[in-house]
Amino acid sequence: MQETIARVRLEIEAYDLTTAEQLDQFRIAYTGRKGQLADLFDQLKTVDPPDRRAVGQELNQLKQLAVARFEERQQQLESATVNAPANPTFDYTLPAVPQALGTRHPLSLVREEIVRILARIGFNVAEGPEIEDDWHNFTALNFPENHPARDMQDTFFVKSAPIPGEQAPAPSYLLRTHTSPVQVRVMKSQKPPIRSIMPGRVYRNEAISARAHMMFHQVEALFIDENVSFADLKQTVYYFVQELFGADVQVRFRPSFFPFTEPSAEIDITCLICKGQGCNICKGTGWVEIGGSGMVDPAVLEQSGIDPERYSGYAWGMGIERITMLKYQVKDLRLFTENDLRFLRQFEGLQ
Ligand code: DAH
Repeated sequence: MQETIARVRLEIEAYDLTTAEQLDQFRIAYTGRKGQLADLFDQLKTVDPPDRRAVGQELNQLKQLAVARFEERQQQLESATVNAPANPTFDYTLPAVPQALGTRHPLSLVREEIVRILARIGFNVAEGPEIEDDWHNFTALNFPENHPARDMQDTFFVKSAPIPGEQAPAPSYLLRTHTSPVQVRVMKSQKPPIRSIMPGRVYRNEAISARAHMMFHQVEALFIDENVSFADLKQTVYYFVQELFGADVQVRFRPSFFPFTEPSAEIDITCLICKGQGCNICKGTGWVEIGGSGMVDPAVLEQSGIDPERYSGYAWGMGIERITMLKYQVKDLRLFTENDLRFLRQFEGLQ
């Protein structure tokens, strides 16, 4: 009997309890009602009475050992199943977790819509440099040297080093303050009829606020041909505004001054926030300005190599931020450059 107890003790100590099945088999084989330990307790009565007490104690210790091993491992396995994922095998048939896609920037959306609307009536897209020379940005557009009209736009000048060995003063460069210099580049490189729009980034030395930024976008439109009149300008602007904002939006032209157009007018549309009733965005007038326009000054045509006796043309320019703010009711210009996803995601899915 003692030999059996010693053998069973070795078995119990060495028993592999890795899995829950093994633990269950262990219970059936040793501690269970029909297990070996129950058997041994049964056999206790066959032991000689003087030895019975000692053998009984040994048997009890063996049972304690078996129960202790069983309970310890059972607890470990239980806590492992609680912490492990319910189904640790990965299910490859599950649909993928959707990846968040980027969205089109509202300024790109509006720029592309402007390009589409004007392409339908024959305008193509032209581009020019953002670092521009003084001649294209000002002089060729009839801003005389040292003329106060240059102060209409606060300019960032680019410091240029003199060219070694050159006597002439270094050309004066700047960050273009408007897209109008692209008009000059188009007129110098193409012959009329010209029908182009010129979207792009422009810079002005302004303090950044909800209504002003040192970097923003404009789009310019230029039409040069024989017999172009102010009526053509008005009709094109009416068409453009109604396509972009809707047929119930009104347009008005307000006399103004720009050095490169004569006559000049500012373009206003009915305030989209209050529908013309008057609110704080339109300062109670019911109208908001979207850009400047006019008939290209003959002096500008001449500077660019186009015969003003034969050709005439109109030009207009507007701020893309301004139009985007009106169209999508954006109240702060800074949102366009802050990359706040809560703002940008609102334009998800728009074309
Ligand atoms: N370049 C002007 C500005 O930035 C806007 C402008 C006015 C453009 C009249 C034009 C125009 O083409 O004809 O303030």
